[in-house]
Amino acid sequence: MTGMSTPKGAALVTGGARRIGAAVARALARDGYDVALHYFSSAEPAERVAGEIEALGRRCRLFRCDLNDHRETSALVPAVREHFPNLDVLVNNASIFERGTLRETGRDLFERHFNINLKAPFFLIQAFAESRAGGQVINILDTRVSRSDPHHAAYTLSKKMLLELTKMAARELGPAIRVNGISPGMILPPPGGVVDELERRSQALPLKRTGDTDNLVAAVRFLLNNPFVTGESIHVDGGEHL
Ligand SMILES: NC(=O)c1ccc[n+]([C@@H]2O[C@H](COP(=O)([O-])OP(=O)(O)OC[C@H]3O[C@@H](n4cnc5c(N)ncnc54)[C@H](OP(=O)(O)O)[C@@H]3O)[C@@H](O)[C@H]2O)c1
Repeated sequence: MTGMSTPKGAALVTGGARRIGAAVARALARDGYDVALHYFSSAEPAERVAGEIEALGRRCRLFRCDLNDHRETSALVPAVREHFPNLDVLVNNASIFERGTLRETGRDLFERHFNINLKAPFFLIQAFAESRAGGQVINILDTRVSRSDPHHAAYTLSKKMLLELTKMAARELGPAIRVNGISPGMILPPPGGVVDELERRSQALPLKRTGDTDNLVAAVRFLLNNPFVTGESIHVDGGEHL
């Protein structure tokens, strides 16, 4: 596209084709970042988001990768850096969220949650940190990091570990890289879920409402723009963690 202004930098958003990831990707583009948009199965939605980002005058390139596959995951950041040498923001947003208590969780369900929700962010952060240029990481967690949800055992444990990784990485990678987390609550119903059901459950929260993607994006902006914050996790959950 012609007439582009100088980008603020480039941001890799995992799971950026739909829902929360797409909202974050659009917001970063509005704030002046070029976007490396990762997706796995949502090719057409990813193309649409890329079109919207380019219409904002920013560059956007799509990167397909199965984060359940370690070999593919290892290749993602190097591939992004070939196109965006100025990569300086990583948003670990992609995730799976499947039911299963301790009794019900088989090895496959357990491993997929840990691969996609924890192991992939771990190695993406490692690859991101290889550049000496510095930057910022935001890990999307879940309000469940502050309690135990026995119905989503593998998911909850993977996100609790991602919170620990956020703090550990913040210690190791500062001062060049800041690492923070956001712990959302009822923002969007799970794919195929019902909005009314979420509204009903939200009446039990201190703020008696659901959130929206703008609430989450506001937390992303706060973390990116505050150079004295690292290893922090912000609940964006209407008080659910209380
Ligand atoms: N929705 C909420 O209210 C809520 C509440 C608490 C926490 N969160 C957290 O917020 C983040 C975004 O939530 P969301 O509801 O928008 O997420 P989502 O729709 O459930 O999933 C986000 C993306 O993850 C990607 N993904 C899944 N499996 C993958 C794989 N094997 N390899 C690569 N990518 C894969 C998918 O990409 P493709 O579609 O391209 O396959 C999907 O679009 C997640 O980390 C979630 O845990 C959300």
